[in-house]
Amino acid sequence: MTNDKELVRLAYEAQKNAYCPYSHWAVGAALLTADGRIYTGCNIENNTFTPSVCAERVAFFKAVSEGVKEFTAIAIVGNAVGTPIGEGDVCPPCGVCRQVMTEFCSADFRIVLGRSYDDFETYTLAQLMPKMSLPLDK
Ligand code: THU
Repeated sequence: MTNDKELVRLAYEAQKNAYCPYSHWAVGAALLTADGRIYTGCNIENNTFTPSVCAERVAFFKAVSEGVKEFTAIAIVGNAVGTPIGEGDVCPPCGVCRQVMTEFCSADFRIVLGRSYDDFETYTLAQLMPKMSLPLDK
């Protein structure tokens, strides 16, 4: 059983692969599936900007592309490149990523925002996406 602290650690591991030569803002995510698997993601930017994708969506789309569509929690960490762990702040998901979460997750999906390996805040999707419209089967 993966706890939040371990999920945050895995998000920091994924952050090391962030490709962010334009924003210099590195993000990592670790997505926990209902059956205990973990998919990680980092942000991947592009010189024409619009193809850039957030760490959270990389993790979700890796999972969905492998047929996994039930999720329990995601840990997210993000900071300017070079910021020592613990000296930055939490990195809440952007609106587009929150919308993607509503497609695959229920209102009680947990979003763990890391500030360091053992300092994090936890929110539900409903808290970060109030009045969200859920897919019809949720
Ligand atoms: N970014 C993420 O990957 N996730 C977030 O939650 C916030 C923003 C990325 C997008 C872009 O590559 C960089 O961080 C700066 O916005």
